[in-house]
Amino acid sequence: MISHDLLIVGGGLAGLAAAMSADPKLKVAVISKVHPLRSHSVAAQGGINAALGNHPNGKDDAWEKHAFDTIKGSDYLADQDAAELLCQKAVPLMYELDHWGVPFSRFPGGVIAQRPFGGAGFPRTCYAADRTGQVILHTLYEQAVRRNVTFLDEWLVANLVVGDGKCLGLVAYELGSGKIHPLPAKAVIFATGGYGRVYLRSSNAYINLGGGIGMAYRAGVPLKDMEFVQFHPTTLYGKNILITEGARGEGGYLINNEGRRFMEDYAPKAMELAPRDIVARAIQREIDKGNGFENQYVHLDLRPLGREKIEKRLPAIQEICLRFASLDPVDTPIPIQPAQHYSMGGIDVDKYGASPIEGFYAAGECACVSVHGANRLGGNSLLEAVVFGKIAGEAASAFVKTGSFPDKPQKGVAEEAQRFFSKVKSLRERDTGENVFKLLDKLKLLMSDKVGIFRKGKDLQEALEGVTELKEESKRAFIFGSCDRYCQELVVLTEFDYMLDVAEAIIVAALAREETRGSHYRTDFPVRDDNNWLKHTLLTWTEKGPEITYRPVKVDKYQPQERKY
Ligand code: FUM
Repeated sequence: MISHDLLIVGGGLAGLAAAMSADPKLKVAVISKVHPLRSHSVAAQGGINAALGNHPNGKDDAWEKHAFDTIKGSDYLADQDAAELLCQKAVPLMYELDHWGVPFSRFPGGVIAQRPFGGAGFPRTCYAADRTGQVILHTLYEQAVRRNVTFLDEWLVANLVVGDGKCLGLVAYELGSGKIHPLPAKAVIFATGGYGRVYLRSSNAYINLGGGIGMAYRAGVPLKDMEFVQFHPTTLYGKNILITEGARGEGGYLINNEGRRFMEDYAPKAMELAPRDIVARAIQREIDKGNGFENQYVHLDLRPLGREKIEKRLPAIQEICLRFASLDPVDTPIPIQPAQHYSMGGIDVDKYGASPIEGFYAAGECACVSVHGANRLGGNSLLEAVVFGKIAGEAASAFVKTGSFPDKPQKGVAEEAQRFFSKVKSLRERDTGENVFKLLDKLKLLMSDKVGIFRKGKDLQEALEGVTELKEESKRAFIFGSCDRYCQELVVLTEFDYMLDVAEAIIVAALAREETRGSHYRTDFPVRDDNNWLKHTLLTWTEKGPEITYRPVKVDKYQPQERKY
């Protein structure tokens, strides 16, 4: 059995940043269920925020203003010390990324280019055309390879093993061989991304099943603020491929079927560049009022930008429109609709990435520090992934060097691996039962229908009942193929139970929070209620279902105000 000092799960930006900041003298490995360059960070388009002040209209920008915008955007649910840390670290981080080789777009004179994004007082989103995630991911991967980081590619983690409140390691399933591996470790960092594919309409990759979040929850780590689910305002109608906020940042308009820029009714100052929760709701309202097209979508009109700007700054958007909608945004408006995009809630960690379980850390989208509170600003997710990935790598390394460890972690991990082996064996022995892909489709539909942009108690209650039924049905799931290697049924089956827990956590937290804040809009409680609800939701897994507790938000300089844009 191979023992590690530190295992990092996830090869996206947070995982790679953690691997690069981990102490090189330690035995570290990055485990990823896909090749790291296929991690979902690759799909981030519009940019990464830092108050560099490079834009002609952004000369007075400062990290403190970035922090204020982030906290206001969060509807005051972000912990203010953590949001400040994020924004302070953003500025030196951009130069570090630049020096590592990230090919940022440039302004004349050579400084890193910046564009306006939603909810930001200044244009502070640094970008590489509309492929920012891709270029940062590729650069970090190159740098990690250069530093001889060990990668275990195409290994699916099946269990986080915890004993007496301490992290013992992992159980992993090697997709290429079908082998199950016990992996003891002194510390583990999860950088496993979000749960977007719990929803039917999502901009997320099919790998974003949320298994990491569910696994931590089952192992006893609380989940935080799960009710806050981000819906991106602009995804391609019918396909839900992301159409970057950068398209509006560059001057694109949102138009209803009357040919009107309807954002003037919802955010008269910020218009299309209000924060995402506000723009997504505005679009959905227009559609619901009958002001959309075919009752399904509105238009994102990029024609005012002109061909040159579109081809230079938004080439991937043009390509997506040509390939997936057979239209050229140079001369035709893009049909768009909101779709699930990001998980604000996640594994409960502090600003060092540490969870309440000794030796277990999390960073990036799977974690909730919380810097985004009830609504994340566009451009802050790549930033969070790298900033807190680095911090978690350092903190976990320090822990490994100073911590005290359980005597025989191998035993606990080996027992867990044996349990997983027996479960797989019994799944394979069944020759009839439920098809997990069909169960997954039911879950996605339920979440999109009942736990979407607008929520109400009755729908949430029905969603909870639906998940309870699915939990029963999933007990009868079986593997209908005979695959040993790259067995997708087993991958989805392994993650599906965790997905049901994640869905249940979202619903239970949403049902309990009887107010409207950020992305969580309750039509039956349509007002923010700071007296009762300026607090984080914490959910602990129990046999009987989630147990809810609350924790105060860290409010520092910025007293909650009404959000106006
Ligand atoms: O719209 C976008 O380009 C997405 C950015 C983000 O989620 O931060």
